[in-house]
Amino acid sequence: MTRHLRLGINIDHIATVRNARGGDHPDPLRAARLAVAAHADGITAHLREDRRHIRDRDIDLLRAEIALPLNMEMAATPEMMAIALRHRPHAVCLVPERRAEVTTEGGLDVAAGRDHLAPIIHALTDAGIRVSLFIDPDPRQLDAARALRAPVVELHTGAYANAAPGPDCDAELARLVAAAAHAEAIGLECHAGHGLRYDNVAPVAAISSLHELNIGHFLIGEAIFVGLEAAIRHMRILMDQARAPGVSRR
Ligand code: PXP
Repeated sequence: MTRHLRLGINIDHIATVRNARGGDHPDPLRAARLAVAAHADGITAHLREDRRHIRDRDIDLLRAEIALPLNMEMAATPEMMAIALRHRPHAVCLVPERRAEVTTEGGLDVAAGRDHLAPIIHALTDAGIRVSLFIDPDPRQLDAARALRAPVVELHTGAYANAAPGPDCDAELARLVAAAAHAEAIGLECHAGHGLRYDNVAPVAAISSLHELNIGHFLIGEAIFVGLEAAIRHMRILMDQARAPGVSRR
């Protein structure tokens, strides 16, 4: 059981709001500083090919000014690999990217993308960057990630988060529980994220083999009402409660 479940704050949507008006407010760097103040464990930022939210300069500033580990999400492309190698973030999470999607809609098909992914994973690893693969909670994808020697996987929790309460949601949670156990059994560090909110985080946080959750959209939305620091602190409390001794875990 990993007692401390790390919380990475995805600040993409601070940049979404900033970019809506073309200026520099609200500033993702300021959001990252608030995440530090709220005792978050890391900052996550997705540099998309179309730069719809985070931009290159944001990555420069996050690397230069924020001491927390930076988890840079990116597509597995030569352009992004060059940027990652230049900045050397603590971690890179490889995600699938489709231009027309509203958000990252599914996990990477690691099994099918083996030849394309292998050189990118190895180049990033050789540069000292911890590589994580964003995948659906599917044992085939976990085995493929292991075969490619990626040290970390992040399980896509979107299907769980979007499922109707009841049997569908229970089935998605069971897939996450099984996938996290399988990841641990084959020696992968396992993270999870996407669509997590106050009302659905506890069952995921209680999965004992998870090491980290990455949460963005809900916290940025909640920050409008209570402030970012308070929103992060409340999420932290819910995660800690889910891991407290005596709480039933899966
Ligand atoms: N993890 C990954 C790999 C993601 O792509 C995202 C969304 O950008 C998240 C976590 C966070 O998801 P959300 O913004 O829904 O909390």
